[in-house]
Amino acid sequence: MSPCPLHHPRLFDLLRRNFLSLDTCYRLADGRVTRRHYLDSAASTLALGCARAVADELLQHYANTHSTLHFSARIASRAYDWAHGQALKFVRADPDRYTAFFAGSGCTAPLNRLARVLAAQRPERSVALVSLMEHHANDLPHRKHAGRVVPIPLTGAAPALGTVDLTVLERLLEQHRGRVNYVAVSAASNVTGIINPVHDIAALAHAHGAWVVVDASQHLAHAPLPISDTGALERELDAVAFSGHKLYAPGSPGGAIVRRTLLEGGEPDEVGGGMVEEVHPSDYRVTARFPDREEAGTPNLLGAVQLGAALNALQRVGMERIHAAEQTLLRRLLAELASVPGARIYGGFDLERTPRLGTVAFNLDGLEHGLVAAVLNDYHNVAVRNGCFCAHPYVRELLKPELWELDLDPDAGDAAAMLKPWQGMVRASLGLYTVDEDIDALLAGIRDLLARSDDYRALYVIDADGDFHHRTFHAPAETLFDPEMALDRALARLSATGGVL
Ligand code: ALA
Repeated sequence: MSPCPLHHPRLFDLLRRNFLSLDTCYRLADGRVTRRHYLDSAASTLALGCARAVADELLQHYANTHSTLHFSARIASRAYDWAHGQALKFVRADPDRYTAFFAGSGCTAPLNRLARVLAAQRPERSVALVSLMEHHANDLPHRKHAGRVVPIPLTGAAPALGTVDLTVLERLLEQHRGRVNYVAVSAASNVTGIINPVHDIAALAHAHGAWVVVDASQHLAHAPLPISDTGALERELDAVAFSGHKLYAPGSPGGAIVRRTLLEGGEPDEVGGGMVEEVHPSDYRVTARFPDREEAGTPNLLGAVQLGAALNALQRVGMERIHAAEQTLLRRLLAELASVPGARIYGGFDLERTPRLGTVAFNLDGLEHGLVAAVLNDYHNVAVRNGCFCAHPYVRELLKPELWELDLDPDAGDAAAMLKPWQGMVRASLGLYTVDEDIDALLAGIRDLLARSDDYRALYVIDADGDFHHRTFHAPAETLFDPEMALDRALARLSATGGVL
């Protein structure tokens, strides 16, 4: 890595303030115009300005990586290679044994790819063990492609569920001896932020001849995740999927860092331009080069380079430093939220016993998650996500005791409509740009809502999907941002400058 002229602590502070849209303001239901408090980083993180600047500068040389000779093509190919290298370096993967490929726009495409490829590699091993806390992206692809999926339960009891239960995992590996192709698990949950002991899981899986597929989308931006924690080969992760849009690079692809041997041998899952040596009318010869053979078609060059730049910038600050700062904010959020009467935090939240990253899902007694999220947005400019976060089995498991208290069977289909407003949570999630003021705004919003919950409830109607809508305050998206009007403004600027951008 090139030497960084800036001293680390200073770079950390500079980067935290280098995100686009930190000053975005909206008019609220009470007429105030305030700064947005973005606490939805588990969904998508904001854009790191310096990484975006790298992509913008590359645009001056923009060309396709499949052209090879002219200056711009050479620049494009080199920059794209550099982005792959950044992904490998970020997890300290040996480039001779691992490859990084980009695919899709989050981790869904790489995880679907991995599920198909791993099933094709060892069809005789038709069982995949998949943890109960997975996002659908690391669950449904295995259900569809892996053969039989067996869920791995979690430690603890709802609502204080913990990590993947290693004792049960070992039992399942024994029970399905010789048939488990791989274990799929998230490095950290998108619902609770709880961190799984992925290297212990890898060691267990490898002892049984199984591979381990890790969904690291919620982890990579928040804490170090080396391919092996001790350097021991048996603790190496076989495949690590990630989402560029959760790594401060919106518009960038998803991807995976994969042990090469898992991809070698068979035909690549996707075929097309750029992954073949020769094509004849009756046959074709696939290249042996990585990652080319995994990336058919024109790549998302700008997104990948923006992502590479974000990864490089994070490494310059140091992921330990980033993790420590987030943990300080998280401790405060958990402690203060736990002291709010009627607040229920999901997942074990004693950080010594159950480490987690900066994601907290909660509910407030007697208040629907949709109402809480709507009031936080409309009156406090706090952006949180609510619902089931594309992790239905996990959320239902965490909520089960409460749903049973409602005297409705959560597994019965006809109870769905009545359950809807209660079947979900509110989630606050942190990023590198999160500051105490954002946590203050969330907590103040919660306290205000609890103090005046009847008044607030009277201001909203609930629709069939369980979403809450203000009776009088409407802020349709097109009044806040309209792409066509943005284009009008850009064209007006163009005409004012006589065509100079
Ligand atoms: N997977 C993203 C989330 O958890 C979208 O919100």
